[in-house]
Amino acid sequence: MIRIRNPMIVYDEQSNEKWHRLFHDCKDSGPTICNEHWEGIELLNMPTSQLPGLETLNVQLRQVSNWEGFFSEGLIEYHPFYQAMSKRQFPVGNFLRDDLSFTPYPDYFHDVFGHLPMLTCTIFSTYCQEMGKLAIQYEHNPEIARLINRFSWFTTEVGVVRQNGNRAYGGALISSSKELTHMSTTPGVVKAFKFEDVVKSKIDDKTLQEVFYAVESFDHLMDEFLRFKSHITSKLILKNLAASSTDEVL
Ligand SMILES: [Fe+2]
Repeated sequence: MIRIRNPMIVYDEQSNEKWHRLFHDCKDSGPTICNEHWEGIELLNMPTSQLPGLETLNVQLRQVSNWEGFFSEGLIEYHPFYQAMSKRQFPVGNFLRDDLSFTPYPDYFHDVFGHLPMLTCTIFSTYCQEMGKLAIQYEHNPEIARLINRFSWFTTEVGVVRQNGNRAYGGALISSSKELTHMSTTPGVVKAFKFEDVVKSKIDDKTLQEVFYAVESFDHLMDEFLRFKSHITSKLILKNLAASSTDEVL
């Protein structure tokens, strides 16, 4: 794992303006983000108009849920990513995007605004840690690791929960106003969460999602995770996997 001591983040007026704009673009894209995320924003005292410091946020995050963020460079590979998750540590992109509408890699806004607040939610943060442990347990089995990546992608990155409609809880979705609008306005794009369907769905992080899977609640997410975990080595799942095409490891 590459930990960054000197992240490429400048705490100046320009960065504050970017943060303010990104924050409000997501917040103003309608009631599309789940309640737990906004509760997390409050618990972390995350400012809306000023780029927050990671260490300042960590003080609150450690107190609330015993998680912490750490600076990391670029996309993190399977082992270091899930190993960190299993220890209640979350990698945070060490740069702030130039193009406000798009970033090819997870940046500071994606991780800090999109992911950290959800880690204050007890059941969701427990799920993330358990997912990390499961991923490490099967890291030497590429077929099962691919299933785990898919389950993880359709929950922690583009996950949706039913709360008076479809509300985002996945970090990539929460931190993209374009994707939020797509999720909430495109007919038929959100389907009910069933792990057998999720693990058959391909990951594509380069374009708008063709499908999102909505859990009824975070208890439901945990139930599906436990069901997935107990079926993970079944022949049925492996047969389904064999019928679907290859995608990238996260
Ligand atoms: Fe992410």
